[in-house]
Amino acid sequence: MEPAHASPWWKRTTTYQIYPRSFFDGNGDGIGDLRGVLAKLDYVQSLGVETLWLSPFFESPQADFGYDVSDHYAIAPEYGTLADCRTLIREVHARGMKIVFDMVLNHTSEHHPWFVESRSSLSNPKRDYYIWRDGRRGGASAPPNNWRSMLGGSGWRHDPVTGQWYWASFLGFQPDLNYRNPEVKAAMLGVVRHWLDEGVDGLRLDIFNALFKDASFADNPFSWRAMPSEDNPHGFFQRHHHTIDHPDTIAFARELRAVVDEFQSPPRFLVGEVFGDARTLRRYCGEAADGLHLVFLFAAMRARFTGHSVRKLVEQFERAFPDPFSPTYVLGNHDRPRLIHRLGGRHDKAKLLAALQLTARGVPFLYYGEEIGMENHDIPLHEGLDPVATRYRAIPRWLVGAFRRRGILLNRDECRTPMQWDDGPHAGFSSVTPWLPVHPKRASANVAAQDGDPRSLLNCYRRLLALRRSSPALQEGALVWSEQRLPRDVVAYARVLDVEGHRERADVYLNFSDSAVTLPGDAPPGRIVFSCRDEARGAPVRGYVLAPNEGIVASDDGGARAQPSAASENSSIAPSTTWPSSVT
Ligand code: NOJ
Ligand code: CA
Repeated sequence: MEPAHASPWWKRTTTYQIYPRSFFDGNGDGIGDLRGVLAKLDYVQSLGVETLWLSPFFESPQADFGYDVSDHYAIAPEYGTLADCRTLIREVHARGMKIVFDMVLNHTSEHHPWFVESRSSLSNPKRDYYIWRDGRRGGASAPPNNWRSMLGGSGWRHDPVTGQWYWASFLGFQPDLNYRNPEVKAAMLGVVRHWLDEGVDGLRLDIFNALFKDASFADNPFSWRAMPSEDNPHGFFQRHHHTIDHPDTIAFARELRAVVDEFQSPPRFLVGEVFGDARTLRRYCGEAADGLHLVFLFAAMRARFTGHSVRKLVEQFERAFPDPFSPTYVLGNHDRPRLIHRLGGRHDKAKLLAALQLTARGVPFLYYGEEIGMENHDIPLHEGLDPVATRYRAIPRWLVGAFRRRGILLNRDECRTPMQWDDGPHAGFSSVTPWLPVHPKRASANVAAQDGDPRSLLNCYRRLLALRRSSPALQEGALVWSEQRLPRDVVAYARVLDVEGHRERADVYLNFSDSAVTLPGDAPPGRIVFSCRDEARGAPVRGYVLAPNEGIVASDDGGARAQPSAASENSSIAPSTTWPSSVT
């Protein structure tokens, strides 16, 4: 019997990020589009994810490939039409799935009509829609203060039209909106309401931590930190005290939540792109869980592949995001080196991390292509279309590699190459040369090659997702650490659900070592319902020998209704897995 859910749908969901430009080209112009996403909905459904998050496809000059919006209400023609967008929302819902749009609230394109007006004269009614100041010495020689952008260097741009400077947290062609102007706030909340009215189930909030800047415009304090990182965004030799994590931004998270809560059938959610340590991030969710529903926790993208690091990571997430808060598990996105790159191309390790991501307590965010082990494409900076690559063009190649190893991509084209559907010349992405080159390793990492192979990475993801879908304990159970004596490199926990007479338990063992490990004879009883090595299913867990880099999930019902084999779960059929009957 399905239990009454202890938590709302967005806490139980699994999310798949689609970078629309690179997913599937529906009209043969080399650029992925909304019709392409529609054409691949069966595939996404066969994977078993519930929620799709699409990177921006609104009207934009595409200088930052959609993160520079020039009309929040219109669809960029290369991605399709408003009718396509509505069809996509409808079709996703018809499949019982959800859809999340990407909201760039912090800034617009410099070609947005508001900015065109704003920069035109000091007295234009839209002047105060953006952040304008006089230079420190009155002219073009020195910016208003020492504030640095998120990419280093001053974030101020001098505009010769009026002789003042405007502020841009990211790149110069993305001027920041002025949220201290009530008209701006109302206009952007109007955008949010519009898309929720259209039926969108959630919003991903781009660089939400930068929304409010301090009204004093005082200099940021000096810091010895050279490079920002996920858990500490300060860097470029300053603390971004007045430009990020402003108390007014935290307060605005609650205001935004109240707007989203106006939409209740069904409830919607917000996930914020914010950076910092777990405590800072939690502040965005509100003391009373009345702020953003979720925030991305990027620390998982940096954790070392050892039992010790992974346990510390999960412990930290559990401590900072206890119920009713929820952690998120993010292993890749459109800005970072691909997951498999960090694992030296090892699919066995990718399966193990997928097992962590899909069995720990929290909302998993998968990035397109992760499920087939798509690799980073090493594209030299001078060939990059990414504006970040253009900005850092002069950096030598060896340094680019060093940054990549630290998890920083100076050319984000590398992780945005076309989805590899088959091993054809354009990887089945398009009938013509795609906007970015296809990865040369498409022959092994493609959907068609992995689809029918029960041992493939793709089918491992499918089995995990199917298991999670059918297991309330994996979706919303508490995470309880195992008390068994196990080697340090085995991460072991149970997911335990006890709600309204429904009791269910799933035991998870993840072996982050290159040695086999025998599970103790007094381990909680049960049989294996999932293993990274498909053939282990049904085996008793007590005394089971975990292979190197193997992860398993065990259930205590004797495995009576263990999952069907992955071979029968190919692309056209959504896996019809049932979690073993619960103990009531
Ligand atoms: C963060 C997004 O993830 C990135 O792709 C974009 O370039 C910047 N924000 C600016 O919008
Ligand atoms: Ca196209």
